[in-house]
Amino acid sequence: MLPLRQRRGYKRRMTDATDHSGHGFSTRAVHAGQEPDPTTGAVMTPVYLTSTYVQEAPGVHKGYEYSRTQNPTRDALQANVAALEGGTAGIAFASGLAASHGVFSLLSAGDRLVCGHDVYGGTYRLLDQVMTRQGLTFETVDTTDLAAVDEALSTPAQMVWFETPTNPLLAVTDIAAVCERARAAGAISVVDNTFATPYLQTPLALGADIVVHSMTKYLGGHSDVVGGICVTSDDELAERLRFLQNAVGAQIGPMDSFLVMRGTKTLAVRMERHCDNAEAVADWLAAHPRVSTVHYPGRADHPGHAVAKGQMRRFSGMVSFELDADLETATRLASATKLFALAESLGGVESLLDHPASMTHASVPREERLKTGFTDGLLRLSVGIEDLADLLADLEQAFDTAFA
Ligand SMILES: Cc1ncc(COP(=O)(O)O)c(C=O)c1O
Repeated sequence: MLPLRQRRGYKRRMTDATDHSGHGFSTRAVHAGQEPDPTTGAVMTPVYLTSTYVQEAPGVHKGYEYSRTQNPTRDALQANVAALEGGTAGIAFASGLAASHGVFSLLSAGDRLVCGHDVYGGTYRLLDQVMTRQGLTFETVDTTDLAAVDEALSTPAQMVWFETPTNPLLAVTDIAAVCERARAAGAISVVDNTFATPYLQTPLALGADIVVHSMTKYLGGHSDVVGGICVTSDDELAERLRFLQNAVGAQIGPMDSFLVMRGTKTLAVRMERHCDNAEAVADWLAAHPRVSTVHYPGRADHPGHAVAKGQMRRFSGMVSFELDADLETATRLASATKLFALAESLGGVESLLDHPASMTHASVPREERLKTGFTDGLLRLSVGIEDLADLLADLEQAFDTAFA
């Protein structure tokens, strides 16, 4: 057996060291925020299905008054994910987009946001069709291009928002470099860490002010819950986000909080398996004569590979690719897989296949998509934790069917 530090995946990172418990990632995943129930000793956090809490006298209570404002199950989840991201505060919402809306709502009419040009379609739609009506302006920029970021920040901006790796092109942005630029420009930096998860990448340690997740994806991990969270170590931002969570009322419910917590406990083991399978699927696709491009940051031919290696532990379970064929063939392939279910979303234990142009990203205008190299024929895989041989056999039979 190799010494602990040389085993694959074992790397004490900056955030492991800075977490106040001093515990490693998997220990925090299982224990952070999880105290035995004070009344019964239940080891698992109970689902506190209550809207209100009794008070001994007006204003005299145990810290809980009303469940929109505080709920013990939600508190446990928030503490858990905050510990995983190496932050001091987690503020959980009913969905990833509700969390994003919370963060955008830190801004005021007249403020300007610089947004990565390859973000989740719903994030783009929220900015384009909701936030702009409230007086926010935004500009999309390729955040993998630091000169373009400098140029965008030469006009005053209050927030910089990006994903890395991106959805669906898996482009990689240098988190430390962009956050440093945002800070110098006086803007809050926000990283949507949904695709990487805190197991693989911790943006707060690289200078980000806020991390956002769709917990619907890897954190929940079983495609059975919708949720979102913001994590920060900035007390003032945390206070403002908590205020918005309560004032707007888009917080996550206790049952959903419990489901996400059940998922985070196994995040490290699931991510290792997602990464193993995705690496092999990406290599298989790259060797296939009908595939023209594979986007996977773990491959040496990916333009962001060096940056990804510097800021990620491994490269996650998402792979996208283009066929050397017309749209009709791509559609046939998308309909022919049997284990890879044709479905939106990602990050669950089961493998999924998505045609982003007609499914997850249909809300992004075609000309915006094409600017980023995101074509109509792009297919995206969320590689699950099934047996690799079965996944490859499924892809093989789908290729055979599509090109018959
Ligand atoms: C990267 C990313 N961010 C945010 C979201 C939005 O999350 P939700 O669907 O939980 O609202 C998604 C959803 O697909 C996503 O992929």
